[in-house]
Amino acid sequence: MVAETVVLPEQLIQPLFVMEGSGKPEPVKSMPGIERFSISAIVEKCRQLIELGVYGVALFPKTPEEKKTPDGAEALSPDCLVCRTIRAIKAAVPECVVFADIALDPYTTHGHDGVLCEDERDIDNDRSVEILAKMAINNAAAGADFVAPSDMMDGRVAAIRRALDANGFSETGILAYSAKFASAFYGPFREAVGSKKEKNVTGLSKKTYQLAPANRREAIREAALDEAEGADMIMIKPAGTYLDIIRDVRERTDLPVAAYQVSGEFAQIMAAETLGWLDGNAVRDESLIAIKRAGADLILTYFAESYARDFRNRY
Ligand code: PBG
Repeated sequence: MVAETVVLPEQLIQPLFVMEGSGKPEPVKSMPGIERFSISAIVEKCRQLIELGVYGVALFPKTPEEKKTPDGAEALSPDCLVCRTIRAIKAAVPECVVFADIALDPYTTHGHDGVLCEDERDIDNDRSVEILAKMAINNAAAGADFVAPSDMMDGRVAAIRRALDANGFSETGILAYSAKFASAFYGPFREAVGSKKEKNVTGLSKKTYQLAPANRREAIREAALDEAEGADMIMIKPAGTYLDIIRDVRERTDLPVAAYQVSGEFAQIMAAETLGWLDGNAVRDESLIAIKRAGADLILTYFAESYARDFRNRY
């Protein structure tokens, strides 16, 4: 009766991994219960999620190695894996809200979210932004409801908004990964999408463009910039170790705030559950409540389906 916070399935977004071909779903080793799906399996999954009240899905492709290039050109192909997936989902389950990730790491040979400068010692921010804006148009044209820039380049939200509007996609929203920290919690995700360990290839770390975990004011500033540039929703990522940032941003913006409970947060709960050291479902529910209580309106979580299933069984 006195609960101040509830987590509804409708407030969750399920990240989904998609692969080429029509093979059986492939388990992701470090994420028990999470699989990579073929396009037809993903459409089925979206149908099931809607039955459970989960309307949002965030798509991440596993790009075949031979399609990767230093400039990630495959991201601009209208027939890239993600675009075909978006078209299939929106044709079969139009009420599903599709979030397309905007970043080049699934497409680049070096695994960075943008393209490199000529001397390969840094990311070329502005050239990356131009490519990312084209990528946003490509995904919007395929039918994405939201594009979600996760690259952390400076100025990309404004460039994407301008590009979308100029190309007839003024209705496509932007979920900005505003405060994306350079986190070790993304490890299992990189296995799932088969992205390169960028540091081994170029010696350049994602720390050069993602936020330092030590910096709270800088995260708040990034969120304010993205809002001013035209973001429709602000995201904080990871979630569980950045609850203070979720609260800070919540108190400073009237936009919806999303938080991403990332692959490593999921993996640590599932690992303890597998060992019998923690009650996985109880910790899942507590972790989601904490993120919600901190101020998130929406949560991207690999637990979306299992949470929603248990929620529906309870009520
Ligand atoms: C790509 C991207 C990453 C995640 C979402 N989009 C990985 C990264 O930046 O290395 C991580 C999600 C997760 O760990 O669940 N830019």
